[in-house]
Amino acid sequence: MFDASLARPFEVSSFPRVFAVSSGKGGVGKTTLAANLAYALSRKGEKVLLFDGDLGLANVDVLFGLTPKCHVGDVLRGHASLREVMIEGPGGMKILPASSGIVDLTQLSEPQKLRLLEEFDALARDFAWVFFDTAAGISENVLYFNLASQERLLLCTPEPTALTDVYALIKVLYRRYGVKRFHLVVNWVQHPRQGEEIFRQLLRVVERFLGSVSLNFLGALPFDQRVSQAVRFQRPFLEIFPHSPWAKALEDLAEQILSLDEAPFDGGLKFFGRKIMGVVA
Ligand SMILES: Nc1ncnc2c1ncn2[C@@H]1O[C@H](COP(=O)(O)OP(=O)(O)O)[C@@H](O)[C@H]1O
Ligand SMILES: [Mg+2]
Repeated sequence: MFDASLARPFEVSSFPRVFAVSSGKGGVGKTTLAANLAYALSRKGEKVLLFDGDLGLANVDVLFGLTPKCHVGDVLRGHASLREVMIEGPGGMKILPASSGIVDLTQLSEPQKLRLLEEFDALARDFAWVFFDTAAGISENVLYFNLASQERLLLCTPEPTALTDVYALIKVLYRRYGVKRFHLVVNWVQHPRQGEEIFRQLLRVVERFLGSVSLNFLGALPFDQRVSQAVRFQRPFLEIFPHSPWAKALEDLAEQILSLDEAPFDGGLKFFGRKIMGVVA
């Protein structure tokens, strides 16, 4: 069979671009965004791995109507390998499903951490893009996924609490770990300019109090009640409502992500850096 990846050997690096999708506040649309972004890129022929990093409240599989037999929790308990728990999702993307109530990553023993890291290293090399759909807040797991990723895609809504919570996440990642590079998506906007307005509000505070942080505006997604409808169909929104404004905005975001320059090495410990498991623990 023709393997498209062989036709463009110079475009595929041996390391994927790794993004953490986080928000501070819960319920702002992280899982919806991560899952549909993964789908949009997969449909373009990109090799994408979506890791359900919300270890307390798994939902990527529910969103796509998948029923995984095992999940990342089984890997942490030593009952399966990451490769064994990986399942195929819409558009050919691969998914690492979580389950509700998995142990805290930081509670793992050193050998467990090392094994997980090595497995992830080996597995992720098959992909061009990895997205971690994280939990809300600034728990150790959330910080862990953000530190281990090269890029941080932050999501907020126009609600003031969403803005203060995303600022709190940036602040802790910068002050405690020196993370400086962030991308912002504003979800749930009522009109096209609102995303830019929210971005400017956040940027003002970041520039004032967190001097050398760079915050890049990636785009905005409109409020659309069909987003919840797509969840009931358990299919990607882009597949069911491909011509809606939300789908158009998401396609634009996917293009933005594809055209992002590779993040410069910031000295942090990444996946493939072999040491990350010890950082937050
Ligand atoms: N742009 C949007 N318009 C309308 N509803 C949305 C939008 N984005 C997300 N939702 C809905 O908001 C709820 C929370 O989304 P979800 O992706 O689960 O958030 P999170 O992962 O941040 O907790 C879901 O019911 C989802 O369908
Ligand atoms: Mg979620």
